[in-house]
Amino acid sequence: MDKHSVEKYLSLNASAKLGGVHIFAELDSTNSEAIRFIEAGANGTHLFIAEKQTAGRGRRGRTWKSPAGGGLYMSLLHAFPDQSQGEMELQALSLVTALAVFQSVSRFGAGPIQLKWPNDIVSDRQKLAGILLEMKAAQSHSWIVFGIGINYSLSEEQKAAIDRPVIDMRSLTTELPAREQLAALVCSQLLENIEQFSEQGFAPFQSDWNNNDRFLGAEIVIEDGARRIEGRSSGVDDHGALLVQTASGQHCIQGGEVFPSLREAAEVS
Ligand code: BTN
Repeated sequence: MDKHSVEKYLSLNASAKLGGVHIFAELDSTNSEAIRFIEAGANGTHLFIAEKQTAGRGRRGRTWKSPAGGGLYMSLLHAFPDQSQGEMELQALSLVTALAVFQSVSRFGAGPIQLKWPNDIVSDRQKLAGILLEMKAAQSHSWIVFGIGINYSLSEEQKAAIDRPVIDMRSLTTELPAREQLAALVCSQLLENIEQFSEQGFAPFQSDWNNNDRFLGAEIVIEDGARRIEGRSSGVDDHGALLVQTASGQHCIQGGEVFPSLREAAEVS
């Protein structure tokens, strides 16, 4: 990965906002590197990319397999001025991040792709990308690490080693973009979305989400810790919470994982 190519493809707005692009041949995790950067007294907005991760992290304590060349592994570090980013905002920001990935990947003609609440990009049942946001308070700021993993070009063997159905950019595009271009576009779009979210909240993103939601109107199962809810998805509200119609009425879900059936929920539990 070439740092100057990433910088070349950034939007003008992103170039002006980014304090630095940091590229590594190998890291434990780009999220961990961003957190170390905060602990060392970080300043400004920074992008971290690794060719390979030895301890990539996924949501819900999972690992994110990160072989060299197989994926794009990046974390954007951005500070919010006070400590106002509560759990609810973090949840909405992770949807905003998924939308940034969806919008960028779509611009390369990758398809068909859709969103899976709260923050996956999928093609039918196969996962293309995942997002892990982590928050840390330091120097009277709320620092958020926007960790993004996009499957780029995985061998059949690498796909088989992942415990869920996955798909990569190579299979979804006729012309595979360079990883530098993909990283720059995702970063530029994400910075734009963060700015809009900071000014207007989640409301401007609601219809974009619902128009591209893989499970809108479908019968789903949501698992959130020990809680399991079955019902029909009505999409997200203007705060990014998932609305589910059940036999006992409407539930407003703030966090958890969506499954298309009880059987599939049981398989991964
Ligand atoms: C998920 O779907 O479970 C989230 C996966 C997030 C993976 C990315 S890869 C770059 C960044 N560094 C990490 O350790 N994790 C995120």
